[in-house]
Amino acid sequence: MPHISLDNVSLHYSAKPQPLTVLEDITLAIAEGEFVVLLGPSGCGKSTILNLVAGFQTPQSGSVICKGKTVQRPGPDRGMIFQQPNLFPWLSVLENVTFGPRLQKHQKTEVTEQARQWLDRVGLAGFEHHAPWQLSGGMKQRVALARAWLPGPDVLLLDEPFGALDAQTRIMMQELLRKAWTETSTTLLFVTHDVEEALFLADRILIMSARPGKIVDEIVLPFGRERDIETLAEQPDYREIKHRVLHRVRQEARRHLSWRLP
Ligand SMILES: Nc1ncnc2c1ncn2[C@@H]1O[C@H](COP(=O)(O)OP(=O)(O)O)[C@@H](O)[C@H]1O
Ligand SMILES: [Mg+2]
Repeated sequence: MPHISLDNVSLHYSAKPQPLTVLEDITLAIAEGEFVVLLGPSGCGKSTILNLVAGFQTPQSGSVICKGKTVQRPGPDRGMIFQQPNLFPWLSVLENVTFGPRLQKHQKTEVTEQARQWLDRVGLAGFEHHAPWQLSGGMKQRVALARAWLPGPDVLLLDEPFGALDAQTRIMMQELLRKAWTETSTTLLFVTHDVEEALFLADRILIMSARPGKIVDEIVLPFGRERDIETLAEQPDYREIKHRVLHRVRQEARRHLSWRLP
C-alpha cells in the first residue's frame, strides 16, 4: 500500500469567462519513506498538490489517500514547510520550535529536550535563545525544518523551501535535508523548479506539465542513498539524466509561454 496516493485527481476554479482547470487527472503514488520531488513550471499546480495532501484543499473529483484514509483536513501526521520560514518574531528559536507541542500541552521538559536534539541536528546548537531577527535566511529555514520535524510527522511537504536562499546556502540546506531524511525515513514530497536541486535530492522525480497540470514524466534516480553534491555529477548516467530532465522541463516551460502569448 502506498503511503500517499492521488487517484484521478482534478481540480478547477470557477473563473470567468471559463473555469480554470489547475490539475487534470493526476494519479501518483508515494511509498513510505520515499523522497519524491515534483518539478514543473510556475503555475502548473505544484503547490496545489501539496495543499491537497496537506488537507487544506479538496479536489472536485478523484481522491487523495494517506495511509489508506481519504484526506479531509490537515493533521499533525502531515507537516508543511514553505518558502518563507514564518517564524514568530517575538519568540526565541527554542520557543518557535516548541510552540506547537506546547499548545498541545505536551510535557515541557520532554519537548524541550527533543527540540534541542533537532536544533543540534540542523546545526543550530547554541542558538536556542536567539531571536529570529538575529538569524540569517538559511538559519531561519533550519528553525522551520526543526519545528516541522519535531512532532514526528509521517510526511513532510516542502514547497520550494530553499527558493529564497542564495546558492551556497541552498546547497548546505539540501545536504542537511537529505541527512535528516536518512536519519528519520520520513516520507518527503518536495516541490521545486530547480533541476539540479531535484537531481541531488530525489529518489524519484515527477515532472509536471504546464497548466492544466499533469504528470508527464517520471524519473527514478539511480544515484543511491549516500550522495555527495561535489561528486554527484561524476556518477555514470548523471549527464544523460540531467539532459532528459532539463529537456522535458524546458519543453513544458515553452509550452506554457506560447500558451500565454496571443
Ligand atoms: N484561489 C485561486 N483562484 C483561482 N486560481 C488559483 C487560485 N489558487 C491558485 N490558482 C491558480 O492555480 C494555478 C496553480 O497554482 P499553484 O499550485 O500555486 O502553482 P505552482 O505552485 O506550480 O506555481 C495557478 O495558475 C494559479 O494562478
Ligand atoms: Mg507554488
